[in-house]
Amino acid sequence: MSGTINSKTAEKKSDRNRLFLSLKEKKIPTKYLYDELGSKLFEKICDTEEYYLTRTEKNILDKNSYEIIKTVKIKEFFELGSGSSKKTRVLIKEAFKINKNVRYISLDISRKALNMSFKELRNISKKLEIHLIEGDFLKDIKSVNKSSDTRMYLFLGSTIGNFDNALAVKFLSKLSKIMRKDDFLLLGVDKVKDIDIIKSAYNDKNGITEKFNKNILSVINKKYSLDFNKNNFIHSAVFNEKKKQIEMYLMSKINQKIKFSDKDSVYLNKGDKILTEISRKFTDKGLRSLFKQSLLSINKEFNDEKNFFSLYLLESTK
Ligand code: SAH
Ligand code: TRP
Repeated sequence: MSGTINSKTAEKKSDRNRLFLSLKEKKIPTKYLYDELGSKLFEKICDTEEYYLTRTEKNILDKNSYEIIKTVKIKEFFELGSGSSKKTRVLIKEAFKINKNVRYISLDISRKALNMSFKELRNISKKLEIHLIEGDFLKDIKSVNKSSDTRMYLFLGSTIGNFDNALAVKFLSKLSKIMRKDDFLLLGVDKVKDIDIIKSAYNDKNGITEKFNKNILSVINKKYSLDFNKNNFIHSAVFNEKKKQIEMYLMSKINQKIKFSDKDSVYLNKGDKILTEISRKFTDKGLRSLFKQSLLSINKEFNDEKNFFSLYLLESTK
């Protein structure tokens, strides 16, 4: 059983150049974390004892989905980077109970995620309308902006924390401009808390996050015929206290040269670190400022008892 996937991700030559420029700055774009195996490993991370984010956000959603659906009249749910949609399920189920014509759209860069999402939601009802779009949420939101129905955008899992502040403002402002008067954005964000709790969420004892991080090398190897050797790198996830963010690196164990093309190579010294991901942790004050800069206002806020994670129902103020 699988849904039809509408793909917007045509491979371009410029993608290869962009990766090379990025590697020269010792960074790999985050989107390459998510191929088939990456999406499977991410699901496993969500189930680890250390990764409190998923279960905390799920509890908030389980408790408040009815209230959210009751407050807003939504015809269409548009989830950005849905992953498996396991958390979203309860929300869609509540919405479907009230209105059998609700529609769910998932935009994700990973086919595996889209297939998991389809399976997860199809069993709510065969009658639920589900659309799957393989695309990049940093590029393709505008092109799918064709609906005239009331829409709720979903951006969960603190994926917004994977953008630096400038990109977060740019992304949310773009969404805010697309949103109409009756549209909403449901945004999940991870909060600042005890550093050890945060650090262990990205350093699980069974090494799943390590595998997930290193898999990024297999993804770019396959996609661009490169020859990174995973065994020459160490997983490192550290908390940058000043920036209040986890920084995920692959640290080179040796001096090495990775051939990129006939004329270009990437040189790494022992101890050099390639940045693969940041995960920012937010304060209430920081969030208020982010929303203001992004032309968004808070309609409702939902938290867990420990204030580990927050879910915001936002409206556009454009
Ligand atoms: N929302 C889910 C998954 C979060 S992980 C949850 O809360 O558990 C991030 C998801 O975004 C993954 O499914 C990944 O495939 C997707 N993703 C990452 N970069 C993307 C991009 N540039 N465009 C679209 N989807 C992306
Ligand atoms: N949005 C998730 C987060 O910031 C993404 C994530 C979870 C992640 N675990 C990871 C990214 C490990 C890279 C490596 O928590």
